[in-house]
Formats: sequence, C-alpha cells, structure tokens
Amino acid sequence: GAPVEVNISKIATGQLVRTNYRGKPIYIVRRSQDVIDALGGHEDQLNDPQSNEAQQPAYAQNQYRSIKPEYLVAEGVCTHLGCAPTYRKGDFAEQVEGVDYGFFCPCHGSKFDMAGRVFSGVPAPLNLVVPEHSFLDDNTLIIG
Ligand code: FES
Repeated sequence: GAPVEVNISKIATGQLVRTNYRGKPIYIVRRSQDVIDALGGHEDQLNDPQSNEAQQPAYAQNQYRSIKPEYLVAEGVCTHLGCAPTYRKGDFAEQVEGVDYGFFCPCHGSKFDMAGRVFSGVPAPLNLVVPEHSFLDDNTLIIG
C-alpha cells in the first residue's frame, strides 16, 4: 500500500489519534515527558522490554519503541487474536503491579504499557507491532 501521511501538529499531549495503513488500524500517541520517563521503570514485568522477540524496525528495539520518544506509532491490533486494545490514558486507576498501563485488550484482558509492550502473564505473547514509519518534518509523520 501507499504510504500514509499524517499531520501530527495538532495532537495534544496524552492524545491518541487513529489512522489506517494496509487495512490495519494505527494508533499514534503523543506521550508526556512523565510517561516517557516512566518507561524505564518496569522492565521486569514485561515479556520483551527491548522488542527483541518481535520482528520490528531497529528504531522500535528500545524502551521507547519509537524514533522520537514523544510519539508512539503502533498497530492497534492485539498480538493475541487481533482485537483492538483500548487506550487507557486518563483512566489510570488500573495498574499492573503498581505500573499504569496504556492499553487494555477487552477480548481476553491483555495489557500493554505506554510503549505498546506487553506485560507478562497475559494471553498476548508479543508487543504491539510498530509499523515502518518516518518523520518528513516536525509536523508530518509518514507511515509505510
Ligand atoms: Fe487481545 Fe485476546 S485478542 S487478549
């Protein structure tokens, strides 16, 4: 499919914006500095904190899973059986062992952090997939 261009200039901190690429929903989340800073603190609770197990672009193989830490770009597709995880930002009453989680899959309860990394002990085996993407300039994200 043709690359998808997304204007990210109006995404507020904490906001999730949806688009589609090759028939799959794509989530784009602008993360706050607090959220970014918290990503390093719970690696012992994750299946694959550096995304070594999943086939991912090199820029997704780190705790931010992104090119720019401020922006998470991930498929909105649970790696268990493909349901759409819901974004839990703003509803952080729920935690996994003291860590706020970012995405919850309503089908069988898988939980992912704010980098789309799956917590241990849930049905989903792998982190949310980060699609190939790049930034044309500060305001323009290209997916594909
Ligand atoms: Fe998400 Fe099963 S499809 S937990």
